[in-house]
Amino acid sequence: MRVVKTIGEMKTLSQSLRTEGRTISFVPTMGWLHRGHTALIERAREVSDVVVVSIFVNPAQFGPGEDYESYPRDIERDLRICREEGVDVVFVPSVEEMYPQGFSTYVTVEGLSERLCGVSRPGHFRGVTTVVAKLFNTVMPHKALFGLKDYQQQLIVKKMVRELNMDVEIITVETVRDEDGLALSSRNNYLSPAEREVARLIPESLKRAKELVEEGVSESARIIEEMKKVMDRKPGIVVDYINVCHPQTLEDVERVEDEALVALAVWVGRARLIDNLLIKKQQGGS
Ligand code: PAF
Repeated sequence: MRVVKTIGEMKTLSQSLRTEGRTISFVPTMGWLHRGHTALIERAREVSDVVVVSIFVNPAQFGPGEDYESYPRDIERDLRICREEGVDVVFVPSVEEMYPQGFSTYVTVEGLSERLCGVSRPGHFRGVTTVVAKLFNTVMPHKALFGLKDYQQQLIVKKMVRELNMDVEIITVETVRDEDGLALSSRNNYLSPAEREVARLIPESLKRAKELVEEGVSESARIIEEMKKVMDRKPGIVVDYINVCHPQTLEDVERVEDEALVALAVWVGRARLIDNLLIKKQQGGS
């Protein structure tokens, strides 16, 4: 496994791989790898000849007062996992390499970036699209893999790729969950054992939303109210948002007509956790 630290070296390597006719798939990460990431890596291996993983905690996507400094980091552990997963190249640039002094060019996907997480994290998705565009220009992958836990992120990245005519195929992979249903996230690391117990109510609430729709309930307000009741079973969850929205535009819908995305962000202690579920109304439901 090759570890590359500079943009120049990564570009040269990718160019020569492409010249040899090899297909490159790319898994961008911020490290602290877990089974959600390894699911992406495994899929990447299935769909290409060469797998490149980047590990870069991107300061541009953290707002003032957010957890950039305390975000979990352990490069040796991450490299070991990459090695075990058969990754070919790990790209680990420094902040100075990615954002040299005077850096002032940003990529923004308007509209979608302002909804859901964009409300309480203004500028977050601008940071994501900027770094992803830079990483795509550096790694030059044929395919890039994103997890559906970050549903809004993958939608925004797909729109950026489409509208900026980037030659990258975006492949999405289902959310990986722990046995109790909690979606894997590097931020689960912040949870104390007691908070971890409370956090399991997050997937429970999504399950409740799905059940309600299957029972014929379609009013978004009612679904959200019932989800909050599930979260209130134990103290400790502070809701940032729970939205029932259109799966492509992310605009709120008043009723679940056919298919809808139930998306949420909540605080448990100092961990801001997100999750979502696509729900389909069954034929014949009211
Ligand atoms: O999903 C993440 O871990 C990050 O947002 C990404 C895509 C690696 C960009 O920094």
